[in-house]
Amino acid sequence: MVPPIKTENLTKIYKLGGKEVRAVDGVNLEVPKRSIFGLLGRNGAGKSTLIHMLMGTILPTSGRGTVLGYDIVKESLKIREKVGFMPEGLGFYEDLTAEQNLMAIAKLMGLKKPTESVRECLKLVGLWEYRQRKYGEMSVGMKQRLGIAQALLKDPELLVLDEPTSGVDPDGAREFRRLIQELNKQGKTIFISTHLLYEIGPLFTHIAVMRQGKIVVQGSVSDLKEKLMAGQGYVYEVELSKPAQVIIDRMCSLNGVKEAILEGNKLVVLCSKPLAPTLLSLLEGYGVESFRLAKPTLEDIFREFSG
Ligand SMILES: Nc1ncnc2c1ncn2[C@@H]1O[C@H](COP(=O)(O)OP(=O)(O)OP(=O)(O)O)[C@@H](O)[C@H]1O
Ligand SMILES: [Mg+2]
Repeated sequence: MVPPIKTENLTKIYKLGGKEVRAVDGVNLEVPKRSIFGLLGRNGAGKSTLIHMLMGTILPTSGRGTVLGYDIVKESLKIREKVGFMPEGLGFYEDLTAEQNLMAIAKLMGLKKPTESVRECLKLVGLWEYRQRKYGEMSVGMKQRLGIAQALLKDPELLVLDEPTSGVDPDGAREFRRLIQELNKQGKTIFISTHLLYEIGPLFTHIAVMRQGKIVVQGSVSDLKEKLMAGQGYVYEVELSKPAQVIIDRMCSLNGVKEAILEGNKLVVLCSKPLAPTLLSLLEGYGVESFRLAKPTLEDIFREFSG
C-alpha cells in the first residue's frame, strides 16, 4: 500500500543574490495512513517549502515524491483535486461572508452539492452561527477555522495544514485539537506543520523534526519516546506511605539503577533499562501508593533532536 505522502531525497534550492539557500535538503518523508503527523521546525526550517512541493505549487530542484500515490511534479493537478490543503497565510474575500466565501470556492471546485457541503463544513468547524459574518470582521481563530472548512469541502482523505493554529488562543487550540481528532476518527490522514508544540503537540501520533531543510528525526511518537528513554534513561516516580532511607542503598545496588533519590515520601529512580517489576518487588512493604514511568514529552524529543 502506498503511504499518503512519500518523498525521496526531495530538495529545493533557492538562489538568493548569488547565494544558494537549501530550503529543503534531501528529505525522505513517509506519512502513514490515518496518522496525525506533525511536521515540526522553527521559523525558516523549510516546512512551507516542503508542503508547497507536495501540493505541486513549487517545483522541486531534485528528488521525488508522491501524494496519495500521485507524482508531485507530473500529477499535481490530481493532488490539488484530492487533497484538502490549507496554506499558510490563506486569505479570503474581505467583503464576503464566511458562507459566501465557501460557496464561491465550492462552485469553483465544481462540487455536486455545494450548498450542502458548505453547510456541513461550517457546522463541522463551529462557524455555522457566524456564517453571515464578513471575513474582514472575523477574529483570527474564526479565520483559521474558515481555512480548515475550505480544506474540508471535498471531504478529502488527506488534509495538509500549514501552521493552522498560529495566532489562535488556547480555547481555539483546544477546539482545533477536538476537530482534528474527530476527523482522524473518520479515517482521514492529517499532516500539520507547526512550531507550536504546546498547543497541538499532544495530537500527534507521528512527527518529523525539520532543521535547516533537513529532517533530523521522524517516527511514531511512542517509538521516539522509547528511543529517548533508551538513550537517556528510564525515570520511575514512586509515592510511598512508609518511606525509609535504607531503600536507597538497596536500589542503588541493583544492576541497571543509576541513581535513586528519596524526598519525603517521593522516590525517584533513574535506570539505564526498564526495571518496573524488579523495583516493585523490592519496594514491597514500603507502602507503594503510586508508581509511574515518567515518559519524555514532545518538547524533550524536539530539544534532543532539533539541536
Ligand atoms: N521564494 C523564496 N526565495 C528565496 N528563499 C526562500 C523563498 N522562500 C523561502 N525561502 C527561504 O527558504 C527557507 C525555508 O523557508 P520556509 O518558508 O519553507 O520555512 P518555514 O519552516 O515554513 O518557516 P515558518 O515557520 O516561518 O513558516 C528560509 O531560509 C527562507 O528564507
Ligand atoms: Mg512556513
